[in-house]
Amino acid sequence: MKRLVIVSNRVMPVTSKKVMVGGLAAGVLAALRESGGVWFGWSGNVSESPAAEPVLTSQGRISYLTCDLNARDYDQYYNGFANQNLWPLFHYRLDLTNFERDWYESYRRVNQDMAHKLLPYLTGDDLIWVHDYHMIPFGEELRHMGVADPIGFFVHTPFPPADLLITLPCHENLFRSLLSYDLVGFQTANDLRNFHDYISRETGGTVDPDGTVHAHGRIMQSGVFPIGIDTEDFVALGETHEAQRQAQRLAQSLIGRDLIVGVDRTDYSKGLLTRLRAFELLLETYPIDRSRVHLLQVTPPSREAVPEYARMERELDALSGHINGRFAEFDWVPIRYIHRAYNRRELAGFFRVSRVGLVTPSRDGMNLVAKEYVAAQDPDNPGVLVLSRFAGAARQMDRALVVNPFDVYAISEAIQEALEMPLDERKGRWSEMLEDLRREDIDHWRESFVSKLVAVNRKQAAGAAGAAGAAGALRAVGGGKKRAG
Ligand code: G6P
Repeated sequence: MKRLVIVSNRVMPVTSKKVMVGGLAAGVLAALRESGGVWFGWSGNVSESPAAEPVLTSQGRISYLTCDLNARDYDQYYNGFANQNLWPLFHYRLDLTNFERDWYESYRRVNQDMAHKLLPYLTGDDLIWVHDYHMIPFGEELRHMGVADPIGFFVHTPFPPADLLITLPCHENLFRSLLSYDLVGFQTANDLRNFHDYISRETGGTVDPDGTVHAHGRIMQSGVFPIGIDTEDFVALGETHEAQRQAQRLAQSLIGRDLIVGVDRTDYSKGLLTRLRAFELLLETYPIDRSRVHLLQVTPPSREAVPEYARMERELDALSGHINGRFAEFDWVPIRYIHRAYNRRELAGFFRVSRVGLVTPSRDGMNLVAKEYVAAQDPDNPGVLVLSRFAGAARQMDRALVVNPFDVYAISEAIQEALEMPLDERKGRWSEMLEDLRREDIDHWRESFVSKLVAVNRKQAAGAAGAAGAAGALRAVGGGKKRAG
């Protein structure tokens, strides 16, 4: 019976006041809620001299172990290498990447320090699951410290083609770290293929048809594990009193007009400027009465210390202001652009009232907002999802109206089609997508990754018969024993 220990840069306790929009933290929290376990990572705080030991708190079956960052690492590791190198690179935006050796050193140092901090809390019978681009070297650091537990890694973002990866000056050193894991998981088959190409082209390694990777004397596994949502929980959220109250308030304010809704972190990968241009085009060409629609765009601030994000915020302000100035009438404003976060219940209410949900990133690992949008719909009157073909979610949700997010004409036409879609067709598309979301939900994601990790580790520990059964192999945390040294 192994205990699940999750490692990620961002840790978001249940009690946190911070509001989550889709993404890693929401997924990990939902996954841990069912299995119990430990969640280790950055507290989100920056302090002068961070404590040598992490802070331990517990809530139900989840224990949180969190550490602060110092100001230099916050700048160089988080804002620098992670968010000005890896994030744009992984989202195919070479034009926005910036490499500084100091940043990479800080990135490696933080991973090493964090691994040191987690070490005393490991019991020797854990299953360690590391998440996302901030923590690539974490598993390798643990291995150097003698940890023999199964260690897996999951990439929440896209994983780009080798031709892009090799532009990163430290790519060999960085991606070699991935080989220390027993299992590396990706969101889509496309991402996995890119990883395999990189392995065979750049490391001289080989990949077996079942995803076994042989490189630099290591053997490890790789596979596709598309992240889901807690579907039942989100369906229920849409029915809560708070969601219904917000939905009613919003519906009243629409005075019978149709609502188009978008909810995204402020990020250049979300395709927000193109989306607003597509909406402007819709207003120019909308055949019936343009003042029949409203766009509600909720865009919580994100990574504001990174210059590109601050610049994008200004551009969004300017473009939404321009469109409103151009089309508004004294009793109608086309775009309600809101630069702050709402909680999940409120969002579920907004989704439920809308006729169209817009999820049009230029590139996205999965995009959980797309899934949450579908889960929150009213079965008697579901809205239509317009979804970018470059979101991982499009690989599973082909009953959405799938669009090229770089094509303003296509987005605008898809919105028109969604607004005019008959109820029967809306219901048909929605129920098929909901069925898939129920089948491949967050528990399915956790169980399939964990069972594979257990199986791979068991195979490698040749003949360790009687090892715990895969999916049921987790035990609730109940407080990790602190190990000396
Ligand atoms: C994406 C990333 C996550 C990250 C989240 C929020 O979903 O894949 O790793 O935590 O964005 O970004 P932040 O920088 O606030 O953690």
